[in-house]
Amino acid sequence: MNSDFSPLLIDWYVLNKRDLPWRKYKDPYVIWLSEIILQQTRVNQGLPYFLSFLKRFPKVSDLANATENEVLKLWQGLGYYSRARNMYATAKKVAFDYNGVFPSSYKELIKLKGIGPYSASAIASFSSNEHVAVVDGNVYRVLARIYGVFTPINSSQGQKEFQKLALSLLPIKDSSTHNQAIMEFGAAHCTPKKPKCSSCVFQHNCYAFRNEAYLDLPVKIKKTKVKKRYINYLVQENKSHVFMRYRNQEGIWRNLYDFPDFEFEASVSKEQLLVEVRKEFPKVEDLELLEQCVTPHKLSHQHLYITYYSVKTAEVSLNIFNGVPVLKDDFSKFPMPIVISRFISTLKKS
Ligand code: ADE
Ligand code: SF4
Repeated sequence: MNSDFSPLLIDWYVLNKRDLPWRKYKDPYVIWLSEIILQQTRVNQGLPYFLSFLKRFPKVSDLANATENEVLKLWQGLGYYSRARNMYATAKKVAFDYNGVFPSSYKELIKLKGIGPYSASAIASFSSNEHVAVVDGNVYRVLARIYGVFTPINSSQGQKEFQKLALSLLPIKDSSTHNQAIMEFGAAHCTPKKPKCSSCVFQHNCYAFRNEAYLDLPVKIKKTKVKKRYINYLVQENKSHVFMRYRNQEGIWRNLYDFPDFEFEASVSKEQLLVEVRKEFPKVEDLELLEQCVTPHKLSHQHLYITYYSVKTAEVSLNIFNGVPVLKDDFSKFPMPIVISRFISTLKKS
């Protein structure tokens, strides 16, 4: 199948390609303009911007000699304004440092502001037929489905694997047409929700079609947002014991021992904390900072910012929080989170 891939793809492309204005150009400057405008933008939305930028700035020196204000004005409505600022900075660099000659090799392009691996490959391939594979969201989808690749596309392993696969399919001659074609195929035929499998040139070779798996591919790891938690531990001790807490509730560290805590959405001062603690436990007279961890303790979906306070009371024997009295010499018998046992080892020394 590998050697048939590109001919099948290009046959499809020749019959089905859209007539897009930037495809008539080989000038890396013009292709760069189109690629920067089309980043994170749909073709229909980007198209009028491409035409007006090209009309107003036919050469890179025209763009470099404009004011940033004018560039941003013309960009208005496209969003992600850092793209426009990077574009302007790159135009100046090329116009003034490179004598107006826009680079067309991957190696030179990748050095420029606003040009990442995808854009560098696209510009190098479309302008000078350099043998580099373009891998965008469309390409990930097409390759994952046809070849049944389940490695997540947003993992570094996945990126390497797809890049390698894409390159292995790229013909020596005319990488430009192949790269345009595979992107177009993903955008128009092998679409995310309703791929046109019944009229597909790859049907018989397609893993997703044979296994009815097109909705499962490509695989993407969900990036869950990391929650920041500010945990203030209250350590009450007397000569022989420390009062600990057994965590029997759902959540992290179930069945382990730590200390009673007051948790907030942001970091709080000792004074603020004391006010909150005294509302519930009026017998607490004061708190003394024992340790403030500078770096958060990182769990998979949460970062814990932990501070330890010693609790001062008038009556030393009082077990204020109804904790589990643990003999200081017995700590090692109690299972506890690593952050707590680390803290306790500093406690024992003092
Ligand atoms: N999106 C990004 N680059 C593109 C291109 N060259 N053609 C069509 N859509 C694109
Ligand atoms: Fe995509 Fe369906 Fe064609 Fe496979 S058969 S490449 S899933 S359109």
